[in-house]
Amino acid sequence: MAGPRPGRILFSEGVLQARIAELGRTIARDYASRTPLLIGVLQGAVLFMADLVRATPIELTTDFLAVSSYGGADSSGEVRLVADVATPVAGRHVILVEDIVDTGLTLAYLKETLAARRPKSLRVCALLDKRARRRVEVALDYVGFAVPHVFVVGYGLDYGGLYRNLPYVAALDDGAATQRAIGP
Ligand code: PRP
Repeated sequence: MAGPRPGRILFSEGVLQARIAELGRTIARDYASRTPLLIGVLQGAVLFMADLVRATPIELTTDFLAVSSYGGADSSGEVRLVADVATPVAGRHVILVEDIVDTGLTLAYLKETLAARRPKSLRVCALLDKRARRRVEVALDYVGFAVPHVFVVGYGLDYGGLYRNLPYVAALDDGAATQRAIGP
């Protein structure tokens, strides 16, 4: 039986790239001559980060970090850093780059962790904002799109490790559930 697969396209490759071009122009304007440090959150933000930095025509540097949540951010809310940036953050203008903000727990933890290192400024750029799921209030400075409360895959976002490589964002089509709903 086929498992869930990417279904309806929510944001096509063209729509994503057009919005990212706008975000890049805005960040370039806001950070001209400040050489920001863009920090991508692995793994989901990799594709967004790669396109965002190419759309941001100023001097900047990049780094990555990785987090994991004990038993899923959903249940426990406990997040921990599993790979840190190599770049010192103190005194830098930092922009955290996320693919999606859901409960907000990951971002709240990362903002607190990075703020403790005394960056000159700290902002967040998230491609997708799933506001309906928020459990902690966390300010987003640059947002690509708001998304409804559906499971999304593609463009860095996975289902069981799959579909990160799609150039678009789609809703996961739970074929199995549909099958159950209509079946015998
Ligand atoms: C996703 C996303 C964020 C986090 C957001 O990562 O990239 O880091 O979840 O969720 P939250 O707002 O509820 O904390 P995920 O844990 O799926 O790991 P991945 O990026 O490696 O796929």
